[in-house]
Amino acid sequence: MSEPRKILVTSALPYANGSIHLGHMLEYIQTDMWVRFQKLRGNQCTYVCADDAHGSAIMLRAEKEGITPEQLIANVQAEHSADFAEFLVDFDNFHSTHAEENRELSSAIYLKLREAGHIATRSITQYFDPEKKMFLADRFIKGTCPKCGTDDQYGDNCEKCGATYAPTDLKNPKSAISGATPVLKDSEHFFFKLPDFDAMLKSWTRSGALQDAVANKIAEWLDAGLQQWDISRDAPYFGFEIPDAPGKYFYVWLDAPIGYMASFKNLCARRPELDFDAYWAKDSTAELYHFIGKDIVNFHALFWPAMLEGAGYRKPTAINVHGYLTVNGQKMSKSRGTFIKARTYLDHLAPEYLRYYYASKLGRGVDDLDLNLEDFVQKVNSDLVGKVVNIASRCAGFIHKGNAGVMVEGNAAPELTEAFLAAAPSIAEAYEARDFARAMREIMGLADRANAWIADKAPWAMAKVEGKQDEVQAVCALGINLFRQLVIFLKPVLPVLAADAEAFLNVEPLIWSDHNVLLANHQLNAFKPLMTRIDPVKVQAMTDASKEDLIASQTDTGTAAPQGNGELVKEPLAAEIEFDTFAAVDLRVALILKAEAVEGADKLLRLTLDIGDEQRNVFSGIKSAYPNPAELEGRLTMMIANLKPRKMRFGMSEGMVMAAGPGGEEIYLLSPDSGAKPGQRIK
Ligand code: 2FM
Ligand code: ZN
Repeated sequence: MSEPRKILVTSALPYANGSIHLGHMLEYIQTDMWVRFQKLRGNQCTYVCADDAHGSAIMLRAEKEGITPEQLIANVQAEHSADFAEFLVDFDNFHSTHAEENRELSSAIYLKLREAGHIATRSITQYFDPEKKMFLADRFIKGTCPKCGTDDQYGDNCEKCGATYAPTDLKNPKSAISGATPVLKDSEHFFFKLPDFDAMLKSWTRSGALQDAVANKIAEWLDAGLQQWDISRDAPYFGFEIPDAPGKYFYVWLDAPIGYMASFKNLCARRPELDFDAYWAKDSTAELYHFIGKDIVNFHALFWPAMLEGAGYRKPTAINVHGYLTVNGQKMSKSRGTFIKARTYLDHLAPEYLRYYYASKLGRGVDDLDLNLEDFVQKVNSDLVGKVVNIASRCAGFIHKGNAGVMVEGNAAPELTEAFLAAAPSIAEAYEARDFARAMREIMGLADRANAWIADKAPWAMAKVEGKQDEVQAVCALGINLFRQLVIFLKPVLPVLAADAEAFLNVEPLIWSDHNVLLANHQLNAFKPLMTRIDPVKVQAMTDASKEDLIASQTDTGTAAPQGNGELVKEPLAAEIEFDTFAAVDLRVALILKAEAVEGADKLLRLTLDIGDEQRNVFSGIKSAYPNPAELEGRLTMMIANLKPRKMRFGMSEGMVMAAGPGGEEIYLLSPDSGAKPGQRIK
């Protein structure tokens, strides 16, 4: 047998300032399935990840929540870890970029780059918020588009006309953090001299480390000419201070990929069989794979290999890039309920349904993947419940009834076992190539053949015929053996189904090579249903709950919170509106007659409001601030009375009450002065 391969695998590090959603999960599930396949094959495969904990977005978010960045990232790390564990994403280590190993490695790599002459410094001029006393990244500046005149556009591009520009081109610029007018200010920055690595990158990006589509995209950038990369940020910044440069910090994207190394180093300290240098030294024979989305290819296929090369480390074996997730054919949308958080999914559905669905659609390319919710229900029910589990449930009963649960020896259909055996290398090849869709197609093809054979033999009919009992046992024993083979092939995708099947089969944890042998004279344990069908009602409940998340997040921040580093901390003033637009909003004083928690909804209160001549039922995402809702009863508040009613899972919501504050416990319901009467119009 050949030596086990040494393989180190990573997924992109999620930002520590937002929740994991099903778009993120596509990547973690894809990576986890590949890692589980490698482990099943007996390779030494290690999967590390971490939270990406640095940057101004995280600093500002912590400030807004009134906690330290360290507290914020600890809270988020706990949430992320729980989401991943429940989706069966089995990291060998989930660390943080805000860790000692990462500080040391980042400084050491920087110093090696500096020593080798790959760092330059020069002064640059940028917008500075005189109130917050900080430099403003482009996304923290808003103003009027210099091209089309639309207000409230970000500092680098206009959402209305698509123009791109420098923040200094914006008219009437404002800090999105404090609202102050920014001033221009100089400061010294540190740059990584990427053009030094032009020749290396031209050859490495064509060495087979990238999918063709990715290599072609990179070639465009390489042809356009590489620029030096600004790797420093001025205080205040949450990150690591640059050696010999007080007040200057590494830009979050400098230490993020080094976080892969740091997480591995942290793991090495408690796993004696893992040797850091054996994986990272220039002459390492270990394999290194990064799974990422197509939006961060430049960081992984240009900056990262150049940094590694410049600092004397090995480069990645390959960067495996996937496309984006769409839901029902469109970008995930909060208002449609298709912006689904990992937690919301887990509240309603089992993780393996989604793992299988993703597997069935994931090829090796960078195409987007669509989660069509109807197709999801149909495919999982038909393939997993209708085909795979069905084989075991059809056969187990006869073995228990007719032979005390013992599988007889023999092979009732050699041509079928031959086909299963012959398919194994091709299924393994598909997994190895990350062509999970092909692997699933081949496995389901085998399941179809097994089912057709059993249907043809019809043990349920034979069981009624005297003298056919041996044949019933022979057919069912083979049925269970074929089921066992399918479980082995599916184990990287469905680890819980595999564990439950192992318990029923009464066998040790299965490994890939176990498909070579059949069980004979083998005692089974009692059969329990291994997987139930997806009830479409649960899928509906999940999308309804995702709309509810939207309502809660609107109450939190005044807007649907953007994900990732673009998070806005303070809502800038909205664009001016005409008086008529305002006049169209019917604001009324409302008396809260009843306030109660809504069963099955984490964040909602049901409010019964009196607005003079009628009563309204309104759902509001303010429960976190009012854990004893009864205290609101008898209080006056303000509501938008002519908002179109919205159907929610719990009933109709007929309007919206008005509240201020950042969210969580800090939500303040607005009230008029005493003396106002329910139903009075607010003008
Ligand atoms: O795009 C992102 O979500 C980043 N947090 C990914 C970082 S991956 C790595 F380089 F650390
Ligand atoms: Zn514009």
